Amino acid sequence: MCGIVGYTGPRQAYPIILKGLKRLEYRGYDSSGVALLHEGKLNVYKKKGKVSELEEAMIGKDVVGHLAIGHTRWATHGEPSDRNAHPHTSANGKIAMIHNGIIENYALIKQDLLKKGYTFTSDTDTEVLLNFIEDIQKNNDCTIEEALRIALKRVTGAYCILLIEESNPETIIAARKGSPLVIGIGKGEHFLASDASPIIEYTKEVVYVNDYELAIVKPDELILKNLGNEKITPYITKLDMDLAAIEKGGYEHFMLKEIFEQPSTIFDCLRGRLYAKEGLIKMSGIDENIEHLINANRIMIVACGTSWHAGLVAEYIIEELCRIPVEVEYASEFRYRNPIINKGDVIIAISQSGETADTLVALEKAKENGAFIFGVVNAVGSSIARISNAGAYTHSGPEIGVASTKAFTGQLAVLIMMALSIAKHKKSISDERYSSLLNELEQIPEKVEAILKNSENIKEISEKYKNASDFLFLGRGYNFPIALEGALKLKEISYIHAEGYPAAEMKHGPIALVDENLPVVFIATKDPYHEKIVSNMQEIKARKGKIISIVNEDDMISRELSNDFFSIPITDEITAPLLTVIPLQLMSYYVGISKGIDVDKPRNLAKSVTVE
Ligand code: AGP
Repeated sequence: MCGIVGYTGPRQAYPIILKGLKRLEYRGYDSSGVALLHEGKLNVYKKKGKVSELEEAMIGKDVVGHLAIGHTRWATHGEPSDRNAHPHTSANGKIAMIHNGIIENYALIKQDLLKKGYTFTSDTDTEVLLNFIEDIQKNNDCTIEEALRIALKRVTGAYCILLIEESNPETIIAARKGSPLVIGIGKGEHFLASDASPIIEYTKEVVYVNDYELAIVKPDELILKNLGNEKITPYITKLDMDLAAIEKGGYEHFMLKEIFEQPSTIFDCLRGRLYAKEGLIKMSGIDENIEHLINANRIMIVACGTSWHAGLVAEYIIEELCRIPVEVEYASEFRYRNPIINKGDVIIAISQSGETADTLVALEKAKENGAFIFGVVNAVGSSIARISNAGAYTHSGPEIGVASTKAFTGQLAVLIMMALSIAKHKKSISDERYSSLLNELEQIPEKVEAILKNSENIKEISEKYKNASDFLFLGRGYNFPIALEGALKLKEISYIHAEGYPAAEMKHGPIALVDENLPVVFIATKDPYHEKIVSNMQEIKARKGKIISIVNEDDMISRELSNDFFSIPITDEITAPLLTVIPLQLMSYYVGISKGIDVDKPRNLAKSVTVE
C-alpha cells in the first residue's frame, strides 16, 4: 500500500530516491518524504500530497548525502498530513524510519511507551514502532539491529521497514513481513524498494527479501539474517523487465497504455504454453501438479476486486469443462469466517500484485488446513507467488494504473489454459472442443487488436453518457462476471455509481431503477443465452432505458434495440470474456478522462491493498 525506496553508495542519494518515489506513487500518494544522512546529521523532509509537492518543498533544502530512505504513503493509521507522513524520527532524533504495512498491536505498545514518558508527534503506528525500538535499545544497551530484532518479535501485523541512524553513516537496516522488499545489487552500492521499478535502471540483479528476514545493507555489503540472528545466503535473481515497461510509452495514462498492451500481454501469457496446432498446453506449474488438480474434491478460488471477477469466470469454465465443484470467495470474507477446508481441496489464489493482504492471509489459513495452493499472480517474486505450492504467472508486465486491466485478461488466459489442461487430463472434454478452444484462444490477441482499432467508437459512446449518475451492467453466463467487472471499472475510474447484475436478475428488483436517464450496458454476444438477453433488452427498451450494447459484428437484432452499440469479433462463449471486457475498460477510461479524473490514481484508491 505504500512505496519505499532506499539508497546507500557513492552517488548523491536524493535524485535516486525522488525518481524512485515517483515510480512507486501508484502504491499510494497521500503524502511522501525523505530522510538523508549528511555529515552525521539526519535531514528529514515530508509533505502531504503527491511526490511532486514534496519535490517542490525540497527546493533550497540540504539534500546532500550518500545514504537516504524515501516513502510515499497510502494512509492506514492517521489521516494524510505532513505530521503523519513518513519518515518518522525517534524521540532522540537519531533514527529515521519508513514503513509499509500495519502494526496491529501498536495501541498496547503505545500505551506502555506513554507511561514511560514518550511523546508522539503523529497518529501513526510507525512512530510507535520506532519509539518501541528506541526504548528497547536504551533498556538493553544493544545495537539498533538487535533492538529491531527484539521489537519485531513482539509486534503483530505486516511491515517492510527501512531505518537509518546518525551513528551509522553508510548503513540501511531493513526488515519485512507481509509487505514486499527488493534489494538491487550494484557495484559498491545498493538500492532498496517495494518493487523493482525504482531499481531497474541501475541494476537487474536483485534479492527478494523474505518474511521474517532482516537486511543490513552497506554500499559494498549485504547481510541477510533471520530474526534469530542467523545469517542467510542472499539468493540473487536477474530482472527480466526493462525500463520502458514501466514508462508510459507515449500514452497519456498508464491505464490506456495497459489497455492497449493487451494484444501483446495476452500473447506473452500464451507464449511457450499454448501450442494450438499440436493440441498442447505446457504449464509446468500445472503439469507437475496435475494429480492435485484432477483429483481435487473441490476448488476454492480466493481473490479480491477485479481478480475476484476473474475467479467467477473461472468457476463457470472449470465446472463446465472439468466437472469439479468450484467455490469463489472474497478473500476478506474467507479469512474471517470459519471455512471448511479439506486436505483434498485446491485453492486458486488470483492476484495481480501478489501482495493483497486479505488474499495472502486467506492463503496462510488454507495452507494451515492442508489445502494445495495454486497462485495465479502477475508480480514475480511477490508474497502470494512465494506462499503458493505451485502457480502460473500472467506475464502481463508491471501494471501501474490503479485499475487492473491487462492483468485481468492475463488471469483469464491462464485460468482458461488451466481448465483446458485439467479437462484434457480428466478426459472430461471432447477432442474437438479442446482443439476448438485452443484455436480460439490462440486468436484472441489479434481479436483484441481489432477491438482496440475501433476505440474511437467507444470513446464517442462513452462521452455521451459521462454525466449519468448511475449505470447498470447486465450479462449472462460467462459474461455475468464481465458485467460486474465493467461496473467496478466505471465506479473506480469515473466515480459514477454502477452495478453489475445477471441480466435475468434485473426483473427481481433492479428494473425499478430503469427510466430514460439510466444507461444500461448489455453484454450481448452470440451465445446460448443470446435470445434471452434480447428479451431483457426489450424489457429495458419498453421502460425507456438507454441501451448500450456490446454485440457481435453480425448481430442486427441487438443493434436495433440499442441506443448505442459496440461490435466485437465473434469467439467461443468461454473465450468471450477476454474480448467483452475490452470495450468496458475503454468506456471507464474515456468517461473518467472526460470528467477530468486522474485515472491512473483515482481518489481513495491505491494499486496494491497490502492492508486489511
Ligand atoms: C482493480 O481494478 C482494483 N483496483 C482492485 O479491485 C484490485 O483488483 C484488487 O485490489 C485486487 O488486487 P490484486 O489483484 O493485486 O490482488
